[in-house]
Amino acid sequence: MLKQSGMQGINSIIRTIFYFFSGIVTVLVFLLILNNYSFGSVVEDISTRDLGFGPSDIYFKDYDVSLLSNSPEDLEVKYGYEIFINTPKHLGVESGNDVGYVGNSLSCNNCHLLGGTKAYAAPLIGITNRFPQFRGRENRIGTIEDRVNGCMERSMNGRMMSVDQKEMKALISYLTWLGRFAPKDGRIEGEGFVELELPDRPVDMENGKYIFLNTCIECHGSDGQGRRWKGSKQIQYPPLWGPNSYNNGAGMARVITSAQFIKANMPYGTTYLKPFLTDEQAYDVAGYINQQSRPVKPKLDLDFPDLTKKPVSTPYPPFLDSFSLEQHQQGPFLAIMQYYEKEYGLKKSN
Ligand code: HEC
Ligand code: HEC
Repeated sequence: MLKQSGMQGINSIIRTIFYFFSGIVTVLVFLLILNNYSFGSVVEDISTRDLGFGPSDIYFKDYDVSLLSNSPEDLEVKYGYEIFINTPKHLGVESGNDVGYVGNSLSCNNCHLLGGTKAYAAPLIGITNRFPQFRGRENRIGTIEDRVNGCMERSMNGRMMSVDQKEMKALISYLTWLGRFAPKDGRIEGEGFVELELPDRPVDMENGKYIFLNTCIECHGSDGQGRRWKGSKQIQYPPLWGPNSYNNGAGMARVITSAQFIKANMPYGTTYLKPFLTDEQAYDVAGYINQQSRPVKPKLDLDFPDLTKKPVSTPYPPFLDSFSLEQHQQGPFLAIMQYYEKEYGLKKSN
């Protein structure tokens, strides 16, 4: 009897230990699942800190303008930041400037995410150290002001600012301040965009539309026009096409560039460490977006005086090759890239 109850005692201890550990395992599995599937629902709650992951220390420095003093220099940096995140307010028609320098509703921050400090979203940390620099689009050495004006005329569908205009000066002050921890040559890891493995086929418009409807409209709207913050003029979700978006001369209008941006940054909350879309999906949805109507930049035939410098997915003529315009807009691009490599010894990436 005694012996039996002893056995029972041991049995119940073993059972308790067993239940205890299977409880822990269940909780762990549950947490793991939660962690993996939390993406879709909490995208909008992801904090700036979580998004700011970068491949090097440079991304973890302090870029918070609100900590700056009220000295004239610091005030100019803060003003530059203000312009960066709400560009139409300061440079659009509503700004009180005699001309609207910004011709759409976009802000610099809509593409250069987190104030220009997000890896693989064309970060601008160190950018002022990288200029003056040779520019293929103009075929000459350009200054940082020229480069900002490049985005003004294209991404912002607007016009050039003058070099000594207060908004330009403030933007440059902000960009210079961003580079205060950057190396002398301004080169940082995570510059530009991620590389993609391009599918060797044209963009699949049906699939692009399908991805758009399933992963983008929650924020950018089913008409792609985005929306403003409630009760405010400021944009919460920027338009992807239409009269208030970037024009066809913009870098984002190239399928490859836009696919690279989307891959590491969209849906909002995505980082290069944990992309949401596959390369093929990013390619198709980028193709779909860029086939919709958008402002047309005049005089695009003057771009790239040296046509060998023209990226293969530039969506407007002329070209040095005989591939169709449609192929330059929708791929496949590998054949075009191979052509330039064979004929001119050039390795093209976008
Ligand atoms: C619609 C998206 C978009 C907007 C809005 C935009 N840019 Fe850009 N910007 C780009 C893209 C894409 C590139 C890279 C272009 C390329 O590869 O040719 C770029 C490049 C740049 C560069 C050079 C970066 C480098 O790594 O060489 C600077 C500087 C810049 N932008 C500043 C600005 C400023 C300032 C504003 C606001 C006035 C702005 N951009 C608005 C998309 C945008
Ligand atoms: C959870 C909201 C959300 C979702 C979903 C989302 N975006 Fe965005 N997107 C944004 C926000 C916000 C910005 C501007 C970022 C900023 O200003 O900080 C943006 C910017 C962009 C831009 C650059 C600016 C412009 O207007 O051209 C592109 C391109 C873009 N998104 C494409 C997409 C695509 C494609 C999808 C679907 C695969 C997508 N986005 C899904 C919120 C979202």
